[in-house]
Amino acid sequence: MSKIHAAITGVGGYVPAYRLTNQELETMVDTNDEWIQSRTGIKERRILKGEGLGSSFMGVKAVAELLTKTNTDPKEVELVICATVTPDYTFPDTANLIAHQLGMTNAFTYDLAAACSGFLFALTTGAKFIESGTYKKVIVVGADKMSSIVDYTDRSTCIIFGDGSGAVLLEPNHEGVGFQDSVLKSDGAGLENLNIKSGGSVRPPSHETVDRKEHFIYQNGRPVFKAAVTGMAGAMNAVLERNQLTVEDITWVVPHQANIRIIEAVADMANVPMERVMVNIQKYGNTTAATIPLCLWEWESQLKKGDKLLLTAFGGGYTWGAIYLTWAYG
Ligand code: ACO
Repeated sequence: MSKIHAAITGVGGYVPAYRLTNQELETMVDTNDEWIQSRTGIKERRILKGEGLGSSFMGVKAVAELLTKTNTDPKEVELVICATVTPDYTFPDTANLIAHQLGMTNAFTYDLAAACSGFLFALTTGAKFIESGTYKKVIVVGADKMSSIVDYTDRSTCIIFGDGSGAVLLEPNHEGVGFQDSVLKSDGAGLENLNIKSGGSVRPPSHETVDRKEHFIYQNGRPVFKAAVTGMAGAMNAVLERNQLTVEDITWVVPHQANIRIIEAVADMANVPMERVMVNIQKYGNTTAATIPLCLWEWESQLKKGDKLLLTAFGGGYTWGAIYLTWAYG
């Protein structure tokens, strides 16, 4: 019997309507449009407004679109993995809430927390359940309401992040197209440069932690920038080499949207022309686990069966990696 590949057979996406522009940020912190655009490439980001709405709200929207587009009965879905660092609750998991709201009553669910690399880690994990023949319909969602952990008085972080969600359906393919390989890495030494200090079991929430603003993202931008460039370029090269490919073979690079300068530096190091790199950071900023599926969502109509895609990301942890896959439809 031919090897089973896990093919992406559909993409759904959702971004909230509210646009937080650089001009509005100028009224909130000491910054300006020119600085933000030249340092990050971001013009605006979407923000989820509304009481009581968390990441699952956006995940439900993206998955609902995915189910409709792929004509999938929710009861056929066997596994839902949600990559997020902004779960609705510590527990239950956000994937569980998404499955419940959409009637995916036969699925088991879990969240995966690998920050900006979350979608890569979740896609690899989901693919293994298909490749092993265990399941036939797996949904991988990336959903992050970054506005819930951003300090809008901190100009070094509030300009970067946005809210959004993207989702893919994985199904078995016997023609050889779909998920091919991944190189994934973690290094806990990254804690000091990128973290949320309180709210976990080390420092549970208290009046003091709130007063010290320790429930927001802390980032030491420069070392993260450098580690992101070397990490993403290194993982891309490793996965190419392992599959006897060169960048000329790759139709599209799909990078995590952290900063346009990081994306350009990675493309430069890997010798990929920017015409073959998906970029939408100007519209959405960094939506953490959602950036890569939101790129796939936006480029879906241009993708053709057999296209070779290289997905790459770097994020908190540190976590990073690259996935090589071939597109299964279009
Ligand atoms: N507006 C104007 N000035 C600013 C702003 C702002 N919004 N933010 C910082 N500055 C100032 C600083 O105070 C500093 O001033 P100084 O020289 O007088 O001290 C100067 O600009 C330069 O600051 P840097 O932090 O050195 O600026 P840098 O060029 O490194 O850009 C940035 C900062 C955009 C954060 C960049 O370092 C970056 O993109 N880092 C990586 C982000 C990333 O990839 N994160 C990983 C994913 S996140 C996750 O996993 C959850």
